[in-house]
Amino acid sequence: MQVSFEGIDQSYGGQALFRQLDLVIPSGQFFTLLGPSGCGKTTLLRMLAGFVRPDRGRVLFGEKDVTAVPVHRRSVGIVFQDYALFPDRSVLANVAYGLLARSVPKAEAADRAIAMLKRVGLEAFVDRAPAALSGGQRQRVAMARALVIEPKLLLLDEPLSALDVKLRLELRGMIRELQIEAGITTVFVTHDQEEALAMSDQIAVMDRGQVVQIGPPQEIYTKPRTAFAADFVGNANLIPIDRELSANGDGLRRLETPVGILLTKSDAPWTSGASLAVRGSEISVADHAPLQEGELPGVIEHVEYRGSTVGYTIQTTIGPIRVDSWAAQHALIRRRGDAVVLKLPHTAHIVEGHAC
Ligand SMILES: Nc1ncnc2c1ncn2[C@@H]1O[C@H](COP(=O)(O)OP(=O)(O)OP(=O)(O)O)[C@@H](O)[C@H]1O
Ligand SMILES: [Mg+2]
Repeated sequence: MQVSFEGIDQSYGGQALFRQLDLVIPSGQFFTLLGPSGCGKTTLLRMLAGFVRPDRGRVLFGEKDVTAVPVHRRSVGIVFQDYALFPDRSVLANVAYGLLARSVPKAEAADRAIAMLKRVGLEAFVDRAPAALSGGQRQRVAMARALVIEPKLLLLDEPLSALDVKLRLELRGMIRELQIEAGITTVFVTHDQEEALAMSDQIAVMDRGQVVQIGPPQEIYTKPRTAFAADFVGNANLIPIDRELSANGDGLRRLETPVGILLTKSDAPWTSGASLAVRGSEISVADHAPLQEGELPGVIEHVEYRGSTVGYTIQTTIGPIRVDSWAAQHALIRRRGDAVVLKLPHTAHIVEGHAC
């Protein structure tokens, strides 16, 4: 089922959060709302669930206007960050609850709940109380409870953020598998860019109540439209562009910047006030030497060994630049204070706006 917002206005305490917001979530997609704290992700989810009614505008399920339809009539499955299970009921009773509330006969409800618990790998835990489960197991119960009613829409509000890294990786695979199997339209909320990139069919990047870009993960990562999106997704370095110079005929665009002329293959339009977004993983660090075009000098300020990569913060004439280098076993790891040369890639992308 396709889900859409049309012309949504919403204010809190006289302050507008959404102004004429439009958003379409295509049927069957795993669709992620990604943005910093306070940008309005949970509020949009609550509007889909029916907990919040917008000041103005419409929420549509397919063609149907559900703006005034209450929560229990919407056929949505919801998983929150903090589990929200009934503490005094067994795992089985938690999962069967939604079916019984929909007048499914007891025996059938139990069968369907057990089948769902099998799919999330918890068939051995049916009689336990939620308090006797780990955080990861509780979120599996919450997923089972949300899906067992075969909802038309699945809403997930940061369901993994309270879990440790290893569990998060494991559960995000499971959630995606269940979603694909059920073919259910899913809206997932997170402020974790890696999670968004790894799980989504499409990502909507949000900034202060506005959707600034929508696209598949690879497009969001490689072609961010704005400085905000480039910074928030992938932590890009932003170099302001003064103007575009005429091309050399080598297929590369020439940009005048405070660190000299930089070359790029980017096909994004240049407008005044644009920046070049350069991923730390695309910059290479070389020994200090006479500079060539597309290079700039710097001094290593901070070194962070991360196992597979080494993160450097390098001080340059335009401020600090972050670089992620592969930490191959015998590769040289540079030290704080080393003078180096940064080689900027031609894959750097032109984005609207400057560093925030
Ligand atoms: N019921 C409410 N009353 C007053 N302000 C609210 C209410 N609901 C949301 N807000 C405000 O709207 C803004 C967006 O809140 P929302 O919970 O949607 O953010 P979020 O993107 O989910 O953030 P987080 O990542 O921290 O969960 C915030 O500034 C919040 O304080
Ligand atoms: Mg939230």
